[in-house]
This record gives sequence, structure tokens and C-alpha cells, in this order.
Amino acid sequence: MARVSGLADYSSAFARVFPGAGINEDTIAVALASYERTLIAANSRFDLWLFAGEGSALTARERSGLELFRGKAGCTACHHFSERAALFTDHLFHNTGVGWARANAASRTMSVPLGGGETAEVSSAEMTALFGGDLHDDGRFEVTRQLRDRWAYKTPSLRNVALTAPYMHDGSLATLREVIEFYDRGGIDNPGKDPLLQPLHLSLDEKQALEAFLRALTGETVGQLAAEARAAFHATGAR
Ligand code: HEC
Repeated sequence: MARVSGLADYSSAFARVFPGAGINEDTIAVALASYERTLIAANSRFDLWLFAGEGSALTARERSGLELFRGKAGCTACHHFSERAALFTDHLFHNTGVGWARANAASRTMSVPLGGGETAEVSSAEMTALFGGDLHDDGRFEVTRQLRDRWAYKTPSLRNVALTAPYMHDGSLATLREVIEFYDRGGIDNPGKDPLLQPLHLSLDEKQALEAFLRALTGETVGQLAAEARAAFHATGAR
């Protein structure tokens, strides 16, 4: 709250939108929730294909990616969709090994995207120095205190996923291709790993098809929303 209050454009906007209340925990939550309600990912080419029955909305490669997604690659076991709803999540928590790997290898580096497709390898110690605090994260366990929930994270939706790199809860995978390689290896082995994750042995062609399918999940209004967000960001003079 101190940080938001320190920004002139925020304090005047909050005073205007929440007269008499200004910046507090509740108004920040309401503002964030209102923003999140604008993040609608609808009418992707996949939606046209599934809900509008437009067989040609997906290319042949994207359709074979879809067949892999719900067939051989087993993605729908967790990133569930049906004819009634396609949120690409089962709303459940799973251990894919990402959290375990971070907790068990303090010296592990993470690749941080720098933009323009470039990444930098940064050690956990450097991350802590840069961002402060304890980066330790036990996943769902922190809420339930049940050992079986250790390093389990909620299955995220995959709508607009092409626009939301880096991936996984800690941003440790820089590109969709890296995510697909991660699943092709069967995630990261650890005692609590979800048995649904097994090595897939996908060919290069199959990996490319799967990625093409994920890229067909981008909604139609996104281009404009992203452009508006970028314009607002640059208008603040931030870099
Ligand atoms: C066992 C359940 C499960 C299966 C099977 C599964 N996923 Fe996931 N997926 C998850 C969970 C849980 C996360 C979040 C992990 C984290 O944050 O550490 C995730 C994250 C992702 C992400 C990153 C999303 C983001 O915004 O960071 C992508 C992309 C993805 N999965 C694609 C796939 C694909 C493609 C397949 C099939 C090859 C697949 N998943 C199979 C559970 C699963």
C-alpha cells in the first residue's frame, strides 16, 4: 500500500474512483478484481472450432496438435476442456516437479527472459539478492499443511498462454517449447510427482504441432487489450 500510495497517478485515480476511501486493502482488491474481469480470452480460433463448429478455424497442424493434447500427450487429464466449457484447468493441484526442483537445489539457476527472445541465467542467491526475502515456496502445502500437497500447484488455464511467458509458478521455463520439452521428459521426478506425468517420446513434428495448438488459444480481443496496457505503461514513463 505504501508503494501504491507513493505513485501520484495511482493516488489521484483511487481518490476519483473510491471517493472518501482512497488507497486501502479493500480498494486495491476491488481495483485488481475489476482489472482481472477485463482479461477475457474469448473467440480464439480454437473457440470457433469447438463452439461454432468452424472446421477450418484450425489449420491441419493445429488440429493434430489438438489430437495430441487430448490423446497421446495426455494434457487434458489436467488442462481439461469439454463441449460445455473450455477453461483448460481441472481446478486441482498437481506436483509436476517444478517446486520440488527449486526447493531441493539451492544452487539451481533460473533463466530469466530479458525480452527480444534473450534470457539470462541467474542463480537463486542472485534472485534473493535482487528481489529480497525468502523465495521458498512449498505450493499448496502452505495452505493445507498436508504433506501430499507439498510442491503441488493449481493447474493454470492455457487461454492466451502464447502471451504470458515465462511459464510455471516460478517463471522457470522461458518458452512454450521449453514447457513442451519439460512434459516430454515426464516433468521432474520426485517422490510426490503426479503419476499422470510420464515421458512422452514425442517427435519434433509432434512437439511443433502441440505448440501450434497452444498458440491457437489466443483470444481475439487480446491484441487490443495488450496494446492499451502497453500504451498506459509507456505513458507512466516506466521502462
Ligand atoms: C498432472 C497434471 C498436468 C498434466 C498432465 C499437464 N499439465 Fe500443464 N500444468 C499443470 C500444472 C499443475 C501447471 C503449473 C505448474 C507450476 O506452476 O509449477 C501446469 C503448467 C502448464 C503450462 C504453463 C502455464 C503458465 O501460464 O505458466 C503450460 C503451457 C502447460 N502446463 C501445458 C501442458 C501441456 C501441453 C501438457 C501436455 C503435454 C500438460 N500441460 C500436461 C498440470 C498438468
